[in-house]
Amino acid sequence: MPLRSPTFNALFSLMSEMQSPLTIVETGTIRNHLEKYAFGDGHSTLQFTKYVSDFGGEFYSVDIDPIAVVVSTMVCTREYPSAMDKVNIIESDSVAFLKSFDKPIDVLYLDSANDAELILNEAKAALGHLHSESCILIDDCFNENHYHVEKGSLVIPFLEENGWVMEANEYQALFIHKDRF
Ligand SMILES: C[S@@+](CC[C@H](N)C(=O)[O-])C[C@H]1O[C@@H](n2cnc3c(N)ncnc32)[C@H](O)[C@@H]1O
Repeated sequence: MPLRSPTFNALFSLMSEMQSPLTIVETGTIRNHLEKYAFGDGHSTLQFTKYVSDFGGEFYSVDIDPIAVVVSTMVCTREYPSAMDKVNIIESDSVAFLKSFDKPIDVLYLDSANDAELILNEAKAALGHLHSESCILIDDCFNENHYHVEKGSLVIPFLEENGWVMEANEYQALFIHKDRF
């Protein structure tokens, strides 16, 4: 079972130090409403929805699959009905969405396809919207032996070459900017 809790906890701890309200963007939304799939995928969409429910801000979750958009909207509405004015679950290609996004991104979570090129292009499309206090979390980066796998193999060197520092890693990789605070 992928171990995501240390890096999610590290991210939420960083978020608690940041000036709120935060704008959070996720690529890849919840695609299955059944509990048994929650741990395989992480159900990050629910975690970020809970965050904006508790602390305000705005959360955008983008997915190319219209069924995932319906499923995710249903799950989030069921769990946090009063937060849905702060939650935007959008059907789009992630790179197109990020290119046209028109505000600063405080928290970026990259969790779309297991396609290293796509994740790299998502980071490139988002880079201009990030700032020195932003955080980037990337899913599916390391296996148990800490070799680069799947989503991380191209984006990790790209971020490191562009001033981002790996703050924590386990199965996921968490980045902060070298000029943070
Ligand atoms: C691993 S799931 C996301 C899981 C979700 N973040 C969670 O924790 O429950 C990956 C999703 O990425 C979506 N996806 C794949 N390629 C995409 C693209 N180019 N743009 C947007 N979404 C994409 C898939 O449709 C799928 O629903």
